[in-house]
Amino acid sequence: MSLNLKEAVDSRRTFAIISHPDAGKTTITEQLLLFGGAIRQAGTVKGKKTGNFAKSDWMEIEKQRGISVTSSVMQFDYDGKRVNILDTPGHEDFSEDTYRTLMAVDAAVMVVDSAKGIEAQTKKLFQVCRMRGIPIFTFMNKLDRDGREPLDLLAELEEVLEIESYPMNWPIGMGKGLEGLYDVYHKRVELHRPDKYDGERFIELNEDGDIPTDHPLHKDSVYTQAMEDVELLTEAGNEFSEERIAEGKLTPVFFGSALTNFGVQTFLETFLQFAPKPSAHKTMAEETVSPYEEEFSGFVFKIQANMNPAHRDRIAFIRVCSGEFERGMDVFLERTGKKFKLTNSTQFMADSRETVESAVAGDIIGLYDTGNYQIGDTLYSGKMKVAYEELPQFTPELFMKVTAKNVMKQKSFHKGMDQLVQEGAIQLYKTILTEDYIIGAVGQLQFEVFQHRMLNEYNTEVILTPMGNKTARWINEEDLDERMSSSRNILVKDRYDQPLFLFENQFAMRWFADKYPEVELKALL
Ligand code: G4P
Repeated sequence: MSLNLKEAVDSRRTFAIISHPDAGKTTITEQLLLFGGAIRQAGTVKGKKTGNFAKSDWMEIEKQRGISVTSSVMQFDYDGKRVNILDTPGHEDFSEDTYRTLMAVDAAVMVVDSAKGIEAQTKKLFQVCRMRGIPIFTFMNKLDRDGREPLDLLAELEEVLEIESYPMNWPIGMGKGLEGLYDVYHKRVELHRPDKYDGERFIELNEDGDIPTDHPLHKDSVYTQAMEDVELLTEAGNEFSEERIAEGKLTPVFFGSALTNFGVQTFLETFLQFAPKPSAHKTMAEETVSPYEEEFSGFVFKIQANMNPAHRDRIAFIRVCSGEFERGMDVFLERTGKKFKLTNSTQFMADSRETVESAVAGDIIGLYDTGNYQIGDTLYSGKMKVAYEELPQFTPELFMKVTAKNVMKQKSFHKGMDQLVQEGAIQLYKTILTEDYIIGAVGQLQFEVFQHRMLNEYNTEVILTPMGNKTARWINEEDLDERMSSSRNILVKDRYDQPLFLFENQFAMRWFADKYPEVELKALL
């Protein structure tokens, strides 16, 4: 292993930020990019303030700084580390891609609105992080507003998500009365408005864990309250454990306010200290590949179709798992054994701007794809011949009946569906009795993308009939009995011919479970 490769790999920190819509993910991402020098002005990321999603801004930024930034992957350097942030859309863009993105990261940052606590979307995303056993860091945001009691928030986090928590810092007041953070980890107080005092941002704690008694804040009731809370937590709370953080069993909690940029830098610096460097990845053969392995390898975790009808190409996102990628290199696609030169047939991200010349384990690269790649595909160079573990499938929750508007278009209808299903854009089912096609997704946007792409790429207008939310449960083949199917529990087969029920709701499922206790009902993730 070359020393340079090891050094480069060890400097990578690759993570996703997860949150419920509006918790402040975009705002904190912007702050992080500002610290990293990747953008100069807040409001650039999703352009809430500048209008629509400002893709051209990114292009400009990339040109100026020669960094690889897209809507989905952001990269910057900070404190000798190369940071890769992967976007996991929380809004209406929520899709299986969102989940799969979590397969490509080494850690997750969970942003929570401190007035709201743990919300539905966060919980869903959190489950995937837990399944992967990656470290999860929590940022309790919007401290500049009156929120819930910090102790309540911590208790809810532990209860709802079943994870231990360790507050790295503790709010001194909140909302208009926010004075600062009692930084348990750094043994200092970080002031919200240093100019209110003597201008110093930090006050070092003395041996008793207290600020000097002559400091004006010492007499403030919010400080006394914070001290009481911290004392309680020291006695009754969890102990700090780097090991448990690494295993994803304990989440370090940071309080702050992304909007007023308070506590964000402290968070970033501490996070980078504990966030893991790229680790070994598991293969189908249940072996692992070290990130320091000289040969390049990686897997496709996401395929993004270009929604612009003028460009049919798609971008395949690859997590580099080992070695170094260099533009122009030859790689093999494991599924087909086909060899590609990654310059002409596939180019990087955008046409006109600087392309990514090289990347190492931990980095994410995007390849222009003309239909070669599928979700979960492994790419490798040399004689590695590795196949990475399959990406998990997620239980869809939304379903639509799908038909071709024009019956004469059956051929392209099937071709399009086959391809989009293989690519992982949507899941496909067939009713056992009537052989109707049903598509399933975890987010509404997947249907829209499906409809759009069927029309633009396969010239087929599809009619989607909403079936609403369903609870999907797989059953064993030997339990299959068509008489069990009804409008409340539709019996279908998935694309691997495995039978499952689409239950109208949880009640219908429980009714079924009572009636047929011998039938085992299984969920995917
Ligand atoms: P998201 O990506 O998680 O959906 O959240 P986003 O950052 O877009 O933030 C959602 C809203 O919350 C925004 O307000 C944003 O300004 C606000 N916000 C984020 N962080 C903080 C914080 O620390 N304190 C306070 N008080 N507000 C915060 P908006 O009104 O929806 O949008 P905008 O028009 O103000 O941008």
